[in-house]
Formats: sequence, C-alpha cells, structure tokens
Amino acid sequence: MDKLRIVGGQRLQGAVTISGAKNAALPQIAASLLSAHPLELTNLPAVTDVDNMLAVVERHGAEVTRSAHGARIDTGAAVSKETSYDTVRRMRATMLVLAPLLARFGEARVSLPGGCAIGARPVDMHVKALATLGADIDIENGLIVASAPKGMNGARIVLGSPSVGATETAMMAATAARGETEILNAAREPEVADLAACLNAMGAHVEGAGTHRILIEGDRGWRPATHDIIPDRIEAGTYAVAAAITGGQLELTHARLEHLASVVQLLEAAGVSVWPGDRGLVVARDGPLRTVDITTEPYPGFPTDLQAQFMALMCCAEGASLLRETVFENRFMHVPELMRLGANITLQGTTALVRGGEPLKGAQVMATDLRASVCLVLAALVCDGETTINRIYHLDRGYEQLDRKLHLCGAEIERISA
Ligand code: UD1
Repeated sequence: MDKLRIVGGQRLQGAVTISGAKNAALPQIAASLLSAHPLELTNLPAVTDVDNMLAVVERHGAEVTRSAHGARIDTGAAVSKETSYDTVRRMRATMLVLAPLLARFGEARVSLPGGCAIGARPVDMHVKALATLGADIDIENGLIVASAPKGMNGARIVLGSPSVGATETAMMAATAARGETEILNAAREPEVADLAACLNAMGAHVEGAGTHRILIEGDRGWRPATHDIIPDRIEAGTYAVAAAITGGQLELTHARLEHLASVVQLLEAAGVSVWPGDRGLVVARDGPLRTVDITTEPYPGFPTDLQAQFMALMCCAEGASLLRETVFENRFMHVPELMRLGANITLQGTTALVRGGEPLKGAQVMATDLRASVCLVLAALVCDGETTINRIYHLDRGYEQLDRKLHLCGAEIERISA
C-alpha cells in the first residue's frame, strides 16, 4: 500500500486547480441509469470513487467511454441487475443506483450498506421515500428488494432530516414517477442542486433544488444530455486550510465563494483572509491563528466533511476550541492519530476540545477514512520533522492528485509506492 512522506515547515504559495465535486459526480453517474439516452459528464474528478461508480454502472450494462476529465455513459443496453454487497460495502454511494434502476426497470436489488467507519449510517429515509412513491420494498438476505412493476406515482415526501442521499434518491425516483412530487425538508447542498441541473438537462423537470422544498413533474421523457459538474467545495475548503495552517497564500482556481460561505466565515474568524481572485478564491494568512468553535450542520451550515481539516488547523491556534459534530456520530477517527503528532485533544461524545498552540511533531500515522486522512496531511505540513502517513488509498478515493497539487505549491511531500 502506498504511503506519503511529508517534511513539515514549508509555507505554501501558488495556485491549486480545484477539481469537479466527487459528491456531485457520484449521484449523476447513478442517474445515467434512468434514461436509455447517453449522458456526457464533464469536469469529472479523477478519483477512485468515481472509477468505482463508473464500474458499477458498467456492471449494470452501461457502456462508458472515458476522456481525461469526462465520461460518456451510454445506458441503452443496460439491464436491471443486483448490486452486490461487495460494491456497496466499499462505497456507500452505490446505494444511489437503487432509485434509477427501480424507476427504469420496475425492480432493483441492492445490498444494504451495513455498518461503516463513520457511524451506523442507515438508509431508512431512502427506503421510505421510494415506498411513498408506491414501490414495494422488502429486505431479503441483506438485500433491499424494490419493485414497482406498474411504475411509481408522484406524492409528497417529507424527510425526517435533510439527508443528502435520501433527497437524491427521492428526486431521481420522482423524475420517472407519474404526476407531481413534492420533497419537503430536502437537503440544500450544492451537490443536490447540481444533480437537479443534470436531471433537467436529461429531460426531467425539477424545481427548487438547493432549497428545502423540491418540486418534480415526473415522467417527462428523456433525451441525450451533457452536464458540467460543479467544483468541489470540500477540496477547496481543504486547500484553504492548507494555506491557513502553513501561513501561506493559495489561489483556489474555480472555487466558488457562494458554496463556501460558512467556511469562509470561520476562516476569517480564525484570522485567515479570503478574497475573490481572477480565477477563483485567494486564501492567505500572515498574522497569528485565532481559535474558533465549530459545529457541523447540514448545508448551508459548516460541512462535516471539513471538520477534521479544521481540527488540524485548531491544533495550531493558541488556546482552546470546541468542535461539535452533529451530522454523523463517531466521526473523530482522526483524533488519536492527531494526538500521535502531539496534539492535545479531549473527546467527549460528539464534542472535541482542542487545546492548541504546542508545536506538532512528525510521526508514523495511519489514514482511516477520506477526511481523516487529509487532516493528517494538513497537520504534517506544519509538523517539526518527517511524518509518514500509511494507507493513503482513502485519499485517492476523493482527492485528485493531492500530493502533486501540494508539491506544486511548495510542500515537501513524496508518495512512496509499496
Ligand atoms: C453525503 C456525502 C458525505 C457527507 C454527507 C453529509 C455523498 C456521496 N456523500 O453522504 O460526504 O458527509 O452527505 O453532508 O454525497 N441518515 C439516516 N437515514 C437515511 C439516510 C441518512 O438516518 O436514510 C443519517 C445518516 O446516518 C447521517 C445523516 O443522516 O447521520 C446525514 O446523512 P446523509 O446526508 O444521508 O449523508 P450521505 O448522503 O450518506
């Protein structure tokens, strides 16, 4: 397994190109199964989660033609099939093929994701949304068996909480249901709005995505489509922390301020400057870091996918800060690894108390999930001496060429192939 070797202490300076959003790409690849017409996606990030999702739709019979940052997905010959435990276990987002397969073929069998590294992550709201549209759902031998042989009917779906995945499942199913669907308490994440834009390009009629109320007029017929994926706000936020933690200055090419309002607000409170540049956002710090308290929330609140990165940042600010995780239980796997680098963190339930300001020191650490891994990379950039991060395949799932992008801005970082 590959490792990263990082020698801390370099101020990062330069420009970083922000790739397309992984979390927008995954549901859109799944959505290609709704229609028999080809879907061309551009600005696809080159990350292994995207490779895996494309492999999933290929296994369902789609023909995929890749280009450098794009893919043409032709599902004309797709056939309804089972999605195995092995694929869903490796990537929970595989669940997103359930609604398109059900909508297109009247049946789908997708393995239940089961437990996962960041909490229980149930799929009850996905299942309930499909049932509300008239699908029969059974759980058999660890599989979700969904059927709607006569198609689904539009309905009002009220989500218990604004789950991103359940909103996407409901939206995709509703585009193929007869009549109108209203989704209330919908997730407002930019990735949900981008899925709606992609579905509309494919011929659907979705309104209000990006707000808590989405209206869908179903069964409008499909057409060939091309869609350009939005830039990755989590990748942008991660490089913003890289600039802040090293006291450097980075231009985040393509990053969109409107997707990062809560993140920019906290960066500024922490003593970091952010301003719009010609090609995106510029992030810089030359004064001391200040402590801030952080609570993760559904969008437009502060994203859980940046909690670990901000914890690394707070380890470098003099004083105490509280980080509260409200979206997922058990999303603090990075804490013991940060402590191996000398961080002073106390965990109590879903809150972490960080006492920052002591210098971090390089050590051997292990990556445990995507965002936890990148938080260790950020901390390593300011450690005294050398840090080796093991098991970095997690990073490759969601960050395109992280080591190369950091190296180009002056980080002393090297990938060691096993
Ligand atoms: C998506 C993102 C992930 C991000 C998360 C929250 C993708 C591919 N992944 O994950 O990176 O961290 O949003 O912003 O887009 N829940 C239930 N029942 C359900 C569904 C969810 O209880 O049926 C719970 C989850 O356990 C979790 C919370 O709702 O506690 C939020 O999950 P959700 O928004 O669904 O996250 P994902 O779509 O899985």
